Amino acid sequence: MNAVRECVVIGAGPGGLVCTKELVEQGIDDVLCLEKSQAIGGVFADTYDNLTLTSSCTFSMFSDFWIGDGRQHHFWSKQEVLAYWDAYARHFGVFERIRFGAEVVSAEPAPCGWRLVLADGGEVLCRRLALAVGGNRFPNLPDWADDLQGVSVLHSKDYRNDAAFSGKNVLVVGGGESAADITLEIARVARRCTVSLRSSAGWILPRKRGAMAADIATHRGLYGLPREFGIEVSRQIIRHEADYDDPVHDAAAKLNARVTAAYGVWSTYGTKNFSLPEAVARHGCGVVAGVTGVEDGGRRIRFADGEVLDGVDAVVLCTGYRSRLPFLPEPLRAQDPRALYKHMFHPAYGDSLVWIGLARPGYGSQFPIMEMQARYFALLAAGRMALPAPERMAETAAADAQGYLRQLGHSGRRIRNLVDYHRYMDDLAGLIGCMPPFWTLFLLRPRLWLRVVYGATQATQFRLRGPGGKPALAREILMKLPVSRFNHVVKVGLKGRLWYALRWPWRPRPSEPAEA
Ligand SMILES: Cc1cc2nc3c(=O)[nH]c(=O)nc-3n(C[C@H](O)[C@H](O)[C@H](O)COP(=O)(O)OP(=O)(O)OC[C@H]3O[C@@H](n4cnc5c(N)ncnc54)[C@H](O)[C@@H]3O)c2cc1C
Ligand SMILES: NC(=O)c1ccc[n+]([C@@H]2O[C@H](COP(=O)([O-])OP(=O)(O)OC[C@H]3O[C@@H](n4cnc5c(N)ncnc54)[C@H](OP(=O)(O)O)[C@@H]3O)[C@@H](O)[C@H]2O)c1
Repeated sequence: MNAVRECVVIGAGPGGLVCTKELVEQGIDDVLCLEKSQAIGGVFADTYDNLTLTSSCTFSMFSDFWIGDGRQHHFWSKQEVLAYWDAYARHFGVFERIRFGAEVVSAEPAPCGWRLVLADGGEVLCRRLALAVGGNRFPNLPDWADDLQGVSVLHSKDYRNDAAFSGKNVLVVGGGESAADITLEIARVARRCTVSLRSSAGWILPRKRGAMAADIATHRGLYGLPREFGIEVSRQIIRHEADYDDPVHDAAAKLNARVTAAYGVWSTYGTKNFSLPEAVARHGCGVVAGVTGVEDGGRRIRFADGEVLDGVDAVVLCTGYRSRLPFLPEPLRAQDPRALYKHMFHPAYGDSLVWIGLARPGYGSQFPIMEMQARYFALLAAGRMALPAPERMAETAAADAQGYLRQLGHSGRRIRNLVDYHRYMDDLAGLIGCMPPFWTLFLLRPRLWLRVVYGATQATQFRLRGPGGKPALAREILMKLPVSRFNHVVKVGLKGRLWYALRWPWRPRPSEPAEA
């Protein structure tokens, strides 16, 4: 008879690595991580050749493992991030827990917790199961994709490089980060490249502003403001981009003006590089509206703005992903993240089952989110915390979903796991009890306070105290991380603070708009 494992983690992408590490760190020794491939790294081990991350090293790092001096404003290539995770997994003894080449083909509830069946017929029993299988694996395809019989069709998941597109007439569909990266590569070599946006391209931000990673400005100085202020933030940023008097910034401002949702920049997801505006401004890439008609097997395509594209050779669908877990029982296979408590726990299964990585941040990075989720789960698994009652979990999930859908409108409905990074992180930090001690820092350690409030809101600041806290290491790392310059983002934040301070308490806040 098989022994019952304390905890099994499925997947050795970044989510599975950090989850395994946190469980071990909380004293749960009997952890097994099952990975179907032969390597760590998940999506990053199997994606396009020239992938560079859109979150800086400062933002992407795990809280307690240094990136290397001088890398604070660097953006890892996929090879570099894989090397960082390799070193991380070695340092924290994660490799010893991973069984490679172990694909889970079925996971069913069992008296002990969960019974897993592997592709080789093996069986694994466990008390707790962590699903760290990633949400960017199963392509989301438009309804009309089946009509593209006469052209070459590719989803971004299968794109590797521009080799097949040289001299071709190519349509790229979508405006997220996959579309941005791929459009720029294709626009450089294609005879003609056109991108179809049915709404916007998210909110476009540069990777860097001068020598600084632009995401350092994803800080509490700005994101501490009420979300209704997002519309003013959008206006100010568009004005700032226009001031550069540069065609790439102009193209970015024009694309961002397409975001018309209720909270502007805070109603959508960030597309955190200037690749799309560069493709438009420097490589003649055209921008058209959403697809309305596919004729002649895709050789002729019509768009909502009346444009028609003739002689199409290839269509690249950068239309995102759907989260699917085919090995789970039917009702859980396409689980809506918004029905889960904190995008992690199903009320019926409590802490015996957890999804790690099912919360995608609009801005910031997904890696700190996965770490925070792993910390919370590990504390529950170690018996140092308890979940609320199932009814309370369901009520909280419904209330959170309502708030996110109100703020995120169309994007929140399409991307079911999309969350507001700051709200989500602070929410989990509140549950864990690891919010940074702002007032103490302000009074006793102002230089540290500056980094916590005007540096990127990344994972390390949540290690300053509370369960899982590593105060000395956190202070040392934080002091090496950058503080935002006194730039337009800081100024918009200060302006917002002043505006709300003067407004309150004489006038009530405007009521939140209905779901967009
Ligand atoms: C191209 C791309 C670039 C991205 N860049 C960034 C970025 O710059 N910054 C950022 O914050 N986020 C980024 N993301 C978003 C997110 O961080 C990644 O998708 C990340 O890979 C999620 O990690 P994960 O561990 O949840 O899932 P994955 O990386 O998908 O890893 C899941 C692992 O589970 C394994 N697995 C799946 N099913 C089974 C099974 N049945 N049995 C055993 N093993 C299984 C897989 O083989 C895989 O190794 C990017 C996403 C994409 C698609
Ligand atoms: N370099 C990098 O770091 C990098 C590169 C690639 C991906 N990523 C990450 O990977 C994740 C997925 O990104 P992604 O760009 O693949 O997907 P995404 O951000 O979800 O964007 C999908 C795009 O496709 C459009 N779309 C979706 N369904 C459509 C349909 N039926 N018809 C027409 N258009 C449709 C969306 O439009 P609407 O907005 O109108 O819905 C959106 O523009 C994100 O977390 C992203 O940050 C990172």
